[in-house]
Amino acid sequence: MHFELSEEQKMIRQAARDFAQTELKPGVIERDEHQKFPAEQIKKLGELGFLGMMVSPQYGGSGMDAISYVLVMEELSKIDASASVVVSVNNSLVCYGLEKYGSEEQKQKYLIPLAKGEKIGAFCLSEPEAGSDATSQRTTAIDMGDHYLLNGTKNWITNGSSASTYLVMAQTDASKRSHGINVLIVEKGMEGFTIGAKENKMGIRGSDTHSLMFNDVKVPKENRIGEDGFGFKFAMSTLEGGRIGIAAQALGIASGALELAVQYAKERTAFGKTIANLQAIQFKLADMATDIEAARLLCLRAAWLKDNGKPYGQASAMAKLFASETAMKTTIEAVQIHGGYGFVKEYHVERLMRDAKITQIYEGTSEIQKIVISREVLK
Ligand code: CAA
Repeated sequence: MHFELSEEQKMIRQAARDFAQTELKPGVIERDEHQKFPAEQIKKLGELGFLGMMVSPQYGGSGMDAISYVLVMEELSKIDASASVVVSVNNSLVCYGLEKYGSEEQKQKYLIPLAKGEKIGAFCLSEPEAGSDATSQRTTAIDMGDHYLLNGTKNWITNGSSASTYLVMAQTDASKRSHGINVLIVEKGMEGFTIGAKENKMGIRGSDTHSLMFNDVKVPKENRIGEDGFGFKFAMSTLEGGRIGIAAQALGIASGALELAVQYAKERTAFGKTIANLQAIQFKLADMATDIEAARLLCLRAAWLKDNGKPYGQASAMAKLFASETAMKTTIEAVQIHGGYGFVKEYHVERLMRDAKITQIYEGTSEIQKIVISREVLK
């Protein structure tokens, strides 16, 4: 066992750090304020190969490992979690699912432009009445012979309007519960597919979250991924990797907040010295740094397991659970250290605090992560 990153991994991390400073930081407060999608920045991230990081070069990807993915997600999320969620969903829910389970034709047609960042993907599992209880899909995909007839509504879909390719989970045979669910590739513009209004959110306000409506959408049979009834296993399996991405996002939000708190503590004077000299502040920083380091190790371990072909479902759930709780605690403390300044937008930490909350909710709430973890513990 060794804890050193390779030279290549360090270079990739530096590239992400530089990008975050030069491309994401300017305008991040305005994008949050006006709920503006970081379109230009996402295009540049695609050109850098960060939207198909782990996809093989054969399919337009960068062929990097999951460790590098964690490093990039942390660096981008320190500055702009609205941009990093696009990176996470495109990489680990959409590209990964297509590369691992898609047919050769599907990879040629859909994966290559997604991995190159020419197009963006969305993962459509959640519904108005099926969030944590993901098997209770109400969206239906009726088998019509050469196509499926898709009807229903999806909620809280990340990249809802910016995506071109949507992986949609839908129930074909309700009597089979999870075994009756299929996953279909739906293209923007298919007749009967409409995009609902953008959600006005507490955090990650730059990301475009929408509901999607499907009204008698004809989806060709060749757009089904895997065998009939594979959709739920597809969703669960891709979410295992997605949770590494969100864990790393939470880690980045937390470490971004710590960096800001350290900088502020060294500058701000009170009672005749900088507040970094006060033990009340030092102890907060010590707790924050310790939790962040533990979260980082959990993220990297989950990524290492994935890179080495070992089971990583429990590890990714642990990483997401711990990192997202750490993001919430740490950002609250960062605001506290900043005092009144922390409560105003110019100092960035209040945005990080608002952004942290979603990491405890999407890609499985903290409570769902505990279900996944405890099932393994009790096996
Ligand atoms: N890999 C492969 N198969 C899996 C699996 C996995 N990780 N987890 C479960 N399955 C299989 C089971 O083996 C079972 O198959 P068999 O019947 O053949 O054994 C089948 O799936 C059903 O599994 P369960 O009985 O465990 O199903 P359940 O109803 O108890 O639910 C759950 C399990 C863990 C609670 C699951 O519903 C879940 O993860 N819920 C949370 C959903 C979620 O994370 N949503 C996030 C939305 S996406 C998002 O947020 C993206 C975004 O935009 C940012």
